[in-house]
Amino acid sequence: MKESLLKMLACPTCGQGLAVEGPPPSPEGEILEGRLICPAGHAYPIRAGVPRFVSDDAYVDNFSFEWKLHCRTQMDTCESKVSEEDFRRKTGLLPDQVRGKRILDVGCGMGRFLDVVARWGGEVVGIDLSYAVDAAFVNLGRGAGVHVVQADVFSLPFQEGCFDIIYSIGVLHHTPDCRAAFLRLPRLLVGGGHVCVWVYGRYNKLQSFTSDCWRAITTRLPKRFLYSLCYLSVPLYYLYRIPGIGHLLRNLFPISMQKRRTWRVLDTFDWYSPKYQSKHTYPEVFSWFREAGLRQLMLYEPPVAVRGTRDWQSPSQPSEAPGSGH
Ligand SMILES: C[S@@+](CC[C@H](N)C(=O)[O-])C[C@H]1O[C@@H](n2cnc3c(N)ncnc32)[C@H](O)[C@@H]1O
Ligand SMILES: [Zn+2]
Repeated sequence: MKESLLKMLACPTCGQGLAVEGPPPSPEGEILEGRLICPAGHAYPIRAGVPRFVSDDAYVDNFSFEWKLHCRTQMDTCESKVSEEDFRRKTGLLPDQVRGKRILDVGCGMGRFLDVVARWGGEVVGIDLSYAVDAAFVNLGRGAGVHVVQADVFSLPFQEGCFDIIYSIGVLHHTPDCRAAFLRLPRLLVGGGHVCVWVYGRYNKLQSFTSDCWRAITTRLPKRFLYSLCYLSVPLYYLYRIPGIGHLLRNLFPISMQKRRTWRVLDTFDWYSPKYQSKHTYPEVFSWFREAGLRQLMLYEPPVAVRGTRDWQSPSQPSEAPGSGH
């Protein structure tokens, strides 16, 4: 953890600022062990370079397992920029809009989008409930402008009005209440700041029905066994590409149709293992944005990718004015 993160943090229990206690930072300026403490005495450990605002990975142990195994699978390389393209399509954000901005990645996993945003010159904080944060810290946490925090979206440890941009890609539908999780985000935005979310769509009703039936079984299987079963997606992919029968099979027993076989296994596990998985429509997600007072709603890659902007003047930020910020 870098000391520069402190100015963004707030105690999730009482909202006051936090101070660090413990050994001095490493030569590169990283606080690897210690604790954060607020004036009321609420304390949170820093372990292996990551501040921990949760005691364990609660209902996302499947993601701790997944991101430990696939800690770099989806990371961009010199030859391939798939995560960067994905980020552009799902948020509509461009490098110029990110450069010099303070950004929150809600549910960062192993950090593939932290990598994109840091390359584009943003200062980015990634939070995740799972132990994926350990992979994210190893991958990127020591890099300039990247912070990694283990926290729950329902109890975020940040000052109000702290971020210029908040994005959450493929995360909120894995919480027990997608709308409630979304509504935790806008208060953390500065006036004029943007929030971008991408969630699963509820448009293919047959596929949703069959996959929900399968998930009633798969979410109860031991993770290692389920992960082995996901290797079936490697040969099935070729069968599923046959016109007619392939289309039917895709609806009866959905698998990831990613071209790369490692991504296919990962994405199939990512579909069948999470305890919570909800699906949504554009009108439903729009209604959450309106409920939060966000405006200038923009649509991006289907199924459901939406961006909205916080007003300059809003009830919890009465003195905010254009041009203010950090
Ligand atoms: C499908 S992964 C997406 C990760 C990353 N956004 C990406 O696209 O590579 C969903 C992530 O959401 C995280 N998550 C689920 N519930 C959460 C919660 N309540 N608070 C924070 N993160 C959560 C999981 O731990 C997991 O890493
Ligand atoms: Zn406190």
